Amino acid sequence: MNHPAMQGLNLNTPGYVKNARLIAWVADMAALCKPDNVYWCDGSDAEYQRLCQQLVDAGTFKKLNEAKRPNSFLACSDPSDVARVEDRTYICSADKENAGPTNNWMAPAEMRSTLQPLFDGCMKGRTMYVVPFSMGPLGSHIAHIGIELTDSAYVAVNQKIMTRMGKAVFDVLGVDGAFVPCVHTVGAPLAEGQKDVSWPCNKTKYIVHYPETREIWSYGSGYGGNALLGKKCFALRIASNMGRDQGWLAEHMLILGVTNPQGKKYHVAAAFPSACGKTNFSMLVPPAGFDGWKVTTIGDDIAWIKPHADGRMYAINPEAGYFGVAPGTNFHTNPNCMASLDKNVIFTNVALTDDGDVWWEGMEKDGGSLPAHLIDWQGKDWTPQIAKETGAKAAHPNARFTVAAINNPALDPEWDNPDGVAIDAFIFGGRRSTTVPLVTEARSWMEGVYMAATMGSETTAAAVGQMGVVRRDPFAMLPFCGYNMSDYFQHWLDMEHKLESLGHTLPKIFCVNWFRKDDAGKFVWPGYGENMRVLKWMIDRLEDQAQGQDTIFGIAPQYAEINWTGLDFSAQQFNTVTSIDKAAWTEELKLHADLFKQLEHHLPKELGETKAAIERRLAA
Ligand code: OXD
Ligand code: MN
Repeated sequence: MNHPAMQGLNLNTPGYVKNARLIAWVADMAALCKPDNVYWCDGSDAEYQRLCQQLVDAGTFKKLNEAKRPNSFLACSDPSDVARVEDRTYICSADKENAGPTNNWMAPAEMRSTLQPLFDGCMKGRTMYVVPFSMGPLGSHIAHIGIELTDSAYVAVNQKIMTRMGKAVFDVLGVDGAFVPCVHTVGAPLAEGQKDVSWPCNKTKYIVHYPETREIWSYGSGYGGNALLGKKCFALRIASNMGRDQGWLAEHMLILGVTNPQGKKYHVAAAFPSACGKTNFSMLVPPAGFDGWKVTTIGDDIAWIKPHADGRMYAINPEAGYFGVAPGTNFHTNPNCMASLDKNVIFTNVALTDDGDVWWEGMEKDGGSLPAHLIDWQGKDWTPQIAKETGAKAAHPNARFTVAAINNPALDPEWDNPDGVAIDAFIFGGRRSTTVPLVTEARSWMEGVYMAATMGSETTAAAVGQMGVVRRDPFAMLPFCGYNMSDYFQHWLDMEHKLESLGHTLPKIFCVNWFRKDDAGKFVWPGYGENMRVLKWMIDRLEDQAQGQDTIFGIAPQYAEINWTGLDFSAQQFNTVTSIDKAAWTEELKLHADLFKQLEHHLPKELGETKAAIERRLAA
């Protein structure tokens, strides 16, 4: 390799960095990417402010009105770079079968020779930021360290919010500690004297994972999960591989605490597909009729869960901030989130108001009216009239906020506990306008795994592609499971035996669907804070205080078992969201069969047996 010293490049390695493998890797990557400078992030507030100012000077950030939104910024991306690119995302395991039928695959050697010329000189004219981060509380036995090399200051400042980022990571890493190397480039080298654009990126994109060597290489995008490599790439795709090998779980799950009026606290981890309200559920404000109940947030997107010697499963949130979808968020859907966003926020692809604040679709429900004028996320004038005539959205549907967890008024006191919190229940929720009932409880771990494995969802804006089409999204992990999905099901099934041998009751598993519609196409269940009513029923089930009733797909609540105080929701409406339509389920089971056909390599036979049991109930 053409060593950077030979190019006259100073690697600027700080004296406190002692990890030989890290130092050698940075040298190799600098030699390949050929940045003009190398800068090691220390994670300090002063550094954050400096980099934000640099982004303002470069035109990437606009500083928002200090009086209205202190210390906050707006970035607007290139219109071609607005979401995760699942069709450009690869799991490059040595063996194709290990990536499985749900992942794009290329042989590692072939991918390396594809990426080599793209990365060669990709950072010319730019700075390479060395971003040290811990996923999970620093030093926690559940946490892991990553180092992201990136030529994007936008990524560096986002990583400061989203992870435990900075100098302290090197103390944990020591001289020979392990880390996941993550290389990211926007793929837009600058020629001598060439003026930069505000959102550099490349039409060619590759989001690449090498599970055996635990490496991530990302090329061409500056947006979200494509570029903030701690999130989906590390905390889900690579970590799911680590979890399989080491006996733990990396899940696309929020984690919340729920405390009853007597002060007893439960912890719930819940999986929903992208942009289906995980952040809202994790910050839920209990409605009228729930005096004394409290919901607190541990995480809003990802959970790392480890079985412990006491037979319970302990979960941490590997992240330190929220990268949430802004449109639809308002004081009705998520008041705690709105409160979190009042300062120290990076907004991406929302609209700018005339007084230097931000706006997105859904906010009109708070103020009662649409703003008279905005600059939309593409820098164009927006008025209600233009929106009416052209359908133009002021904010991109996948517009985001990046905010530190500590901004959240409902943050759980245990959110940073290095030992995690003990999980009492898992929830799996698809997004289905028909068929799947509001809530059912699995009669066994196996039935719960079946429910999770067959989850379906109508697609959202979090990934590029067609919206509103039903796709199977097992465990809400379809785009995030870094190995063969059927082996992943087996890993979940194996947990039962592992935990049972340790002698503690397993967490209960529930399946929910907030999204059933009536014949007129309207949502029937009010959702948001009202989901507390369902959560309370689950806790009653944990405490053996609700009998429920058997259905073909688990145990459902009886109407009278739900606390309806403060909500006008008739038994008939309840029936609309809970009824099980035999014809629809006959069709549904055919779709489960299609899924199992697709996943037949290594598919645990118990899934087929569970399906047969559902069919028998349906026929009875
Ligand atoms: C996310 C996603 O950003 O799931 O959390 O897409
Ligand atoms: Mn997510």
